[in-house]
Amino acid sequence: MSTTVVSGMRPTGRLHLGHYHGVLKNWLRLQEEHDAFFFVADLHALTTHYEHPEGIRSSTWEVLIEWLAVGLDPNKATLFIQSWVPQHAELALLLGMLTPLSWLERVPTFKDQQEQLRDRDLATYGFLGYPALMSADILLYDAEWVPVGADQVAHLEICRELARRFNSLYGRSAADEAAITAGLQALGKKRKQEFQRLQERYQQSGDESAIATAREMLQEAGSLNEATKTLLLAALEGKGRSILVEPQALLTEAAKMPGLDGRKMSKSYGNAIGLREEPESVRKKLLTMPTDPKRVGRRDPGNPEDCPVWPLHQVYSFPETLAWVQAGCTSAEIGCVDCKQALVEKVLAEQAPIRARAEEWAAQPERLREIAAQGASKARARAEETLLRVRTVMGLDVG
Ligand code: TRP
Ligand code: SF4
Repeated sequence: MSTTVVSGMRPTGRLHLGHYHGVLKNWLRLQEEHDAFFFVADLHALTTHYEHPEGIRSSTWEVLIEWLAVGLDPNKATLFIQSWVPQHAELALLLGMLTPLSWLERVPTFKDQQEQLRDRDLATYGFLGYPALMSADILLYDAEWVPVGADQVAHLEICRELARRFNSLYGRSAADEAAITAGLQALGKKRKQEFQRLQERYQQSGDESAIATAREMLQEAGSLNEATKTLLLAALEGKGRSILVEPQALLTEAAKMPGLDGRKMSKSYGNAIGLREEPESVRKKLLTMPTDPKRVGRRDPGNPEDCPVWPLHQVYSFPETLAWVQAGCTSAEIGCVDCKQALVEKVLAEQAPIRARAEEWAAQPERLREIAAQGASKARARAEETLLRVRTVMGLDVG
């Protein structure tokens, strides 16, 4: 079976080119190679926008439209809306029982965001619990990989720590795991194989006699202590294994898509170009971008390294164009308008089909709902399997 990847995006406005180059292109690749779950994190949007829910519903659909427009495919990846899968909320609640407050309080974004978003009251339980909810998102699907930007690494670290804490509370510890491996080794090759055959027999057909046979075999193998024998028998029955899978961050290298001012493209910096922004507006934004300050006049040579247009060219242009910019800029043979015009063409050419497909999707709200419902139903089935394990080991009576 292919490996599972999970990622989410908060619906807090329309997407921009940074989302496309930094995140979505990566997701497009992942949906081909993995069992991918991508969701619109509307509950996460509420942690910061609970006082202004108006935009969340419309942004949720905008995001889904834009995902489909860039080529995310509901036949390849499971696309869904977080709140449509209530298991996210339930696992977050249960994880909350074992999440130390100190872990949450020390996340850098917790204090930073509280300070940056001073107009909102973020001294809330929900906002503090952001990483626990995000952990639930990931752990529900036994995800091995989580594609995220560098800003999310601290959250992912909490997720990993929570999985470990959960497993050590309710599953088997790493030390026990090692003792089992060592115990199997000590049995010798023949007995080890016999043990594994019995394990398979019991786990596949529930044949109780396999346990009895294994117990006898372990008694005869004098070299093992009682604790190891007990662990081996539990392993044979499939008891006490790790319950939650510890995921790994899959860092997006292109996460730093440059914006109009050379800083990372971000809505909050006001330096972004919308994924389906009108061509006239795109043209205007690019043509009025700042350039190398040394190019005061058309005849003054410049240096692309000192110009925010250059990193955008590096994202968009072929090597020949890059060479043309490099030579033309430093010799003042080309003007900044020529240089930017070449970029405008590239950006518009990239956006045109995306804009067209987005319009097609936007005209089919029923179809969108259907896609979201199908995605949620697939996600629910998978999430429910994990929750059954979790409820059981946490002492809840699952009937
Ligand atoms: N916190 C992420 C962000 O702001 C969004 C997110 C929510 C997420 N749940 C997730 C990302 C689970 C990866 C996995 O970008
Ligand atoms: Fe920037 Fe291009 Fe002008 Fe050089 S020619 S300063 S790279 S816009």
